[in-house]
Amino acid sequence: MVIQGYPDPGDGLRLHLNENTGGCSPGVLEAIRQVRQSDVSVYPRYREAVTATARHFGVDPDWVLLTNGLDEGILMAAVGHIAKARVHDAETIIPLPAFDPYPNSTAAVGATAVRVPPGIDFAFPTQQVIDAITPRTRMIFLNTPNNPTGQLISIADLTRISAAAPNAVVLVDEAYIEFGGTSFLPHVPTYPNVLVGRTFSKAYGLAGMRLGVVIGQPQVLDPVRAVTLPFNINGVALTAMRAALEDTEFLPGYAAQVHESRERLYAACRRLGLQYWPSAANYVLVHVGDTAPFVQALAARSIHVRDRSKDPTTPGCIRITAGVIAHTDAAIAALDSVVSLRRGPGLAARQPQ
Ligand SMILES: Cc1ncc(COP(=O)(O)O)c(C=O)c1O
Repeated sequence: MVIQGYPDPGDGLRLHLNENTGGCSPGVLEAIRQVRQSDVSVYPRYREAVTATARHFGVDPDWVLLTNGLDEGILMAAVGHIAKARVHDAETIIPLPAFDPYPNSTAAVGATAVRVPPGIDFAFPTQQVIDAITPRTRMIFLNTPNNPTGQLISIADLTRISAAAPNAVVLVDEAYIEFGGTSFLPHVPTYPNVLVGRTFSKAYGLAGMRLGVVIGQPQVLDPVRAVTLPFNINGVALTAMRAALEDTEFLPGYAAQVHESRERLYAACRRLGLQYWPSAANYVLVHVGDTAPFVQALAARSIHVRDRSKDPTTPGCIRITAGVIAHTDAAIAALDSVVSLRRGPGLAARQPQ
């Protein structure tokens, strides 16, 4: 049976989608409880939410488009700049490994994805991206920190690419920037071809509300706005978003846990002899070899992680959310148990004490 959404792993700790497994700010739930009947029976009003978001990001409200998750922003950027513009033979450039909605949105608007493989240890292939730019390039998807590797793209590289593609839209996806790295937002006034994407799903723990933000100068944002449905975000989500922005203590508290969780996961990987890549996001990519039995064994211990092995650029890898420290400790205990089981009793017995 085909069911809408992403496959549900069932009971256990959800460390497979980079959600905030600690939940959202209590202020968000309180604000939702205050929602009145009359708030629900009318179409949502966006002015206050857009103004609050613009203030938060330090940009003009004209530069802000709220979307139903950043997923919608990604798709609408492609629709507005490729499908609606009726560009034929359009290409998008997608450095690998990449978040699925980039190729999916490219395909949805009938464009061709030009994929650029990463360098050693997922080094960002800046020159190769620039070399891939042609007169047909309409969009370039840049993701920093990258999902799934956690690697950053430097501001210098982002500016080089943005300057090298004045006729293409450069979408800088910063879904995880609250956990590490420097935002490209201060450079948006310099680059009329750049859109920056942000989300409330990760750092703010609002994935279930579906709230994304696309920020850019009006000439690059307006084509996206033009194809976005007028009531794309529901009123309860807008209420949640404003309450999330008002709680200034929530995000630093979660980000501090992410930093500690990453360090604990790195230490566990070193101890267990598993290769990992230091991450600037709330997850860590770990090489485990034969992923399917490993992921199943973790699931049997109520820990759900993401199997990344189907992606040719991340063979043998799993991605583990590194957020709430207690949840990371539970994941580490499960990793310990699965790795020692895999080594077998004979080998385990020979391990140094
Ligand atoms: C790189 C990246 N961009 C965008 C998103 C979309 O976030 P949302 O649609 O929940 O706002 C995600 C979610 O996993 C992501 O990993």
